Amino acid sequence: MPWWLKILAKIILSRLPFGYSFWQRLSLFRHGAMDDPDYVFRNFDQHYEAAGKPGSGEGFAALELGPGDSLASALVINGMGGAACWLVDAGDFARKDMEIYKTIATSLQSRGVSAPDLKGITSTEGMLSLCEAHYLTNGLEGLRTIPDSSVDFIWSQAVLEHVRKHEFSDTMKELRRILKPTGACSHRIDLRDHLSANLNNLRFSNRVWESAFFTESGFYTNRLGYEDILAEFNSAGFEIDVGHVDRWEKPPLPRWKLSREFLYRTDIDLTVSGFNVILRPIGTMGAMEDMNASDSVSDHWGIDDRL
Ligand SMILES: C[S@@+](CC[C@H](N)C(=O)[O-])C[C@H]1O[C@@H](n2cnc3c(N)ncnc32)[C@H](O)[C@@H]1O
Repeated sequence: MPWWLKILAKIILSRLPFGYSFWQRLSLFRHGAMDDPDYVFRNFDQHYEAAGKPGSGEGFAALELGPGDSLASALVINGMGGAACWLVDAGDFARKDMEIYKTIATSLQSRGVSAPDLKGITSTEGMLSLCEAHYLTNGLEGLRTIPDSSVDFIWSQAVLEHVRKHEFSDTMKELRRILKPTGACSHRIDLRDHLSANLNNLRFSNRVWESAFFTESGFYTNRLGYEDILAEFNSAGFEIDVGHVDRWEKPPLPRWKLSREFLYRTDIDLTVSGFNVILRPIGTMGAMEDMNASDSVSDHWGIDDRL
C-alpha cells in the first residue's frame, strides 16, 4: 500500500468507534511486540548490556519509557532483584490478561531470570505490586512525579521518535533529573517514517503534521533528525555515546520533496535511518570508558526493528 494511502486509511480507521484493544487484537495500531517473551527478554538484556549494566545490586531501580503493549519488563526487573521499576507510557496500552504474564514469567525463568511466581495473582495491579513496579500512563506528567536521582537504568525501544515534538526537551530533562549520577540510559531510535520505512513524513509542514488530525491517527513520529536528537540529549545534560547507526546509502527522499522546515538538514543527516545510543550524566562518561575499555557498545545489538 503506498504511504499516502496508509495515511488516509489510518485517519479513517482511527476514527471508528473501537477501543485500542480491538485494534491490538487485529494487530493494527499495535504499540510494539512487548507481549512476546523472547522480545521482552532481548529488549531489556541488550539495552542493559550496552549500557554497561549500571547499578546492579541492592536498591537497583530501572525505568522503561514506552513499554507499549505489556508490563512484562516489571517481571524482568523484579527477577534481577530490582527494588523499584517504573514503566512510563503516554497511555494505558498494556494488556491486562494475566495468562500472558504467567507465560512470560515461566519463559523468563527458563532463561535463568528469577521472575516472581504469579500463581494466585489475578490482576496486573497485583502483579505490579508484587514486583514493586509502577505503571504511569501520563507520559511527561508521570515522569515529573518520580524522585530526583532515583533510577540506575533507563531504557526505551522505538519510543523517542514517538514523543510529541513539543514535549521532547522536557522529557529529556526529566530523564536526566531522575537518573542517578552513576546511572545510564540506553535508547534505540527509529528515524524512518512509520508508513513505508522512508522519510515521507518530511513532506509535510509542521502545521499539518503536528495538528490533532495527524497526531491522533496512529502514525505520528516527531520527525526530529539524528543531529536534532543528539543536540537535545546534550542540552538536557547527557554525555552521548552513539552505538550502532543504520544508514541509507543516500537520502531516500529527493530534497525537493522535503517540506521547507527540513531543508537545513545535511544529506549525511538525512541518511540516518535509526541508531542506538547510551547516555550518561555529563562528567561521568570518561570514568565509565576506563571501566569498559574493552567493551564496545555496538557489539551488543541485534534487536530487530519490527515496530
Ligand atoms: C512503537 S511503540 C514501542 C513499544 C515498546 N517499547 C516495544 O518495543 O514494543 C512506542 C511506545 O512509545 C509510547 N510513547 C509515546 N510517547 C511517549 C511519551 N511521551 N512517554 C512515554 N511513552 C511514550 C507509545 O505510547 C508506545 O507505547
